[in-house]
Amino acid sequence: MLKDIESILIPEEKLKARIYEMAKQIEKDYQGKTVTFICILRGASVFFCDLVREINLDVRFEFMSVSSYGAGTTSSGEVRIVKDINTPLAGKDVIIVEDIIDSGSTLSFLKKILEQRGPASIKVCTLLDKPSRRKVEFKGDYVGFEIEDKFVVGCGLDYAERYRNLKDVCILKPEVYTK
Ligand code: PRP
Repeated sequence: MLKDIESILIPEEKLKARIYEMAKQIEKDYQGKTVTFICILRGASVFFCDLVREINLDVRFEFMSVSSYGAGTTSSGEVRIVKDINTPLAGKDVIIVEDIIDSGSTLSFLKKILEQRGPASIKVCTLLDKPSRRKVEFKGDYVGFEIEDKFVVGCGLDYAERYRNLKDVCILKPEVYTK
């Protein structure tokens, strides 16, 4: 697995420190409230677990799975819900947790759908953001790291379902995804 890695972009210690900062910011912003976190499977799972364990608030966990049509290294722009939540969101303070915002398609679709369910508030927390790749305008409310347009894996992010368990965010060797 490590032979496919070109370099480490964000080492584990840096991820940990930033995730802690994000957690404390959320804690401050939601004092006295119950927060419903929606983890978007599968990529966000690792970040989600690290984040919520640093948050000292009353929290609820929900899990959703969405998918863009088509395979490959870029999303096609069309999104569908693969697994929905069955808890009502009306009146709740919701934070969607993602691993990465790339074209922006997934989150702009998802946020619109969830807004229709009448939450009191809805925000987006993402570990990574690639603003240069945006096709649909979208801004995260809590962003861990803005990164350049490199193919990254680890800390939940995959290529063809592999490398999600790497502790660092790593740049994949181009020959791995171009062959
Ligand atoms: C990734 C990521 C986001 C989406 C971002 O999910 O987790 O959901 O792509 O891309 P976008 O901004 O271009 O829409 P992916 O479909 O790879 O599924 P995964 O979470 O199971 O890895």
